[in-house]
Order: sequence, then structure tokens, then C-alpha cells
Amino acid sequence: MTAVAVEPALHVREAAAADLAAVNDLHRRCSVRTLCSRYHAGRDRLTAAEWERMVDPVLGHTLLLADPDGLLVGFANVVRVSDSTAEVSLLLHDDWQDAGVGRAMSWRLVSYARRLGFADIVAWVEPDNRRAVSLLRGAGALPDFREPGEIRWALRL
Ligand SMILES: CC(C)(COP(=O)(O)OP(=O)(O)OC[C@H]1O[C@@H](n2cnc3c(N)ncnc32)[C@H](O)[C@@H]1OP(=O)(O)O)[C@@H](O)C(=O)NCCC(=O)NCCS
Repeated sequence: MTAVAVEPALHVREAAAADLAAVNDLHRRCSVRTLCSRYHAGRDRLTAAEWERMVDPVLGHTLLLADPDGLLVGFANVVRVSDSTAEVSLLLHDDWQDAGVGRAMSWRLVSYARRLGFADIVAWVEPDNRRAVSLLRGAGALPDFREPGEIRWALRL
């Protein structure tokens, strides 16, 4: 996939195995709050095994967002959890939050998952993550399962 503009200044492209170092550099530049919102735990990097799964053509697909200088400012995952269902997630660097990028990326994620052939997507979100909840509601997802500290949202594509 060639890079495509998502917002005036950001470009999106599919990730490859070689992007792990740049993705972990993005993690180093994010606040603890942002990382906790994404992982629901204290995480500061992805392991090589996690990344392999996220860019495996069968198991996972990842979109990278880069600024005009090529600096990574976010990434979005579509990871297979069953034959028909993918788990989606999104992380934006703090400097790019609250500017509508998440909304634009959430629509892109939905159509990407549909194109990959998934029938359903799910997302795990902390109950107080108001931005993520707003994105999911806006996409038509509904909460369908609750665990301590996180809620699973589901959307039929
Ligand atoms: C969650 C996240 C992807 C949202 O992306 P974003 O670009 O910051 O959000 P947007 O600017 O597109 O706004 C999304 C919605 O939240 C609302 N919103 C924005 N800031 C808000 C705030 N501080 N409080 C409540 N709602 C807020 C917006 O109004 C918008 O709703 P609308 O489209 O219905 O008007 C991004 O903030 C992020 O990466 N956070 C850290 C990681 C994370 O939480 N990932 C989600 C779990 S996988």
C-alpha cells in the first residue's frame, strides 16, 4: 500500500517487520497515560514476538501514521482472534490527540478490517477512556463483555 494522507499532515502506510524499532521509538516518546490507555498496563515497548504477530499476513495487520518528516506518530492494529473476528486498537502520540485523527483512523480501521474479510471487530477499552468510547459508539459498536477494568466493544461489519 502506498502512503495515503489521512489528515492534512499525516500519512498512513502498512507496517512491515522492519518497523519495530520505529514503533518502539514512538512508545518511548508517548506519555505513560497514553501507553496505559492503549495497553491497560504499564508497557513501554513491544516485544519482537508481539510485533511479528501484528505484521503477520495471516494473523495481523498494522497501519502506521507518520508526520511529514516521516516520524511515526501513531499506529493501528487489526489482529485476528478467530476466523471471522479481529481485535482492533489504536495509539496516537500525545501531540496528535484531540484533533480528529482518531476519528479518521477509526473509519479507516473499519474499512480495512472489512477489506481483509473479517465479519466482526472487537476492541478492549478502559471504561473511563472517553475518547475511545466516543470513537466506538460513533462507529456503531456496542459493549458486549465486561472484565475488571476493561470493556469489550463489538461491531458487526
Ligand atoms: C483514543 C484515541 C485513539 C482517540 O483519538 P483522538 O484523535 O485523540 O480523538 P479524536 O480527536 O478523533 O476524538 C475522538 C472523540 O473523542 C471526543 N473527545 C476528544 N477529546 C476528548 C476528551 N478530552 N474527553 C472526552 N471526549 C473527548 C471527540 O469529541 C471525538 O468524538 P466525536 O468524534 O464523536 O466528536 C487517542 O486519543 C489515543 O491514541 N489515546 C491513547 C491510546 C488509547 O486510548 N487507545 C484506545 C484503546 S485501544
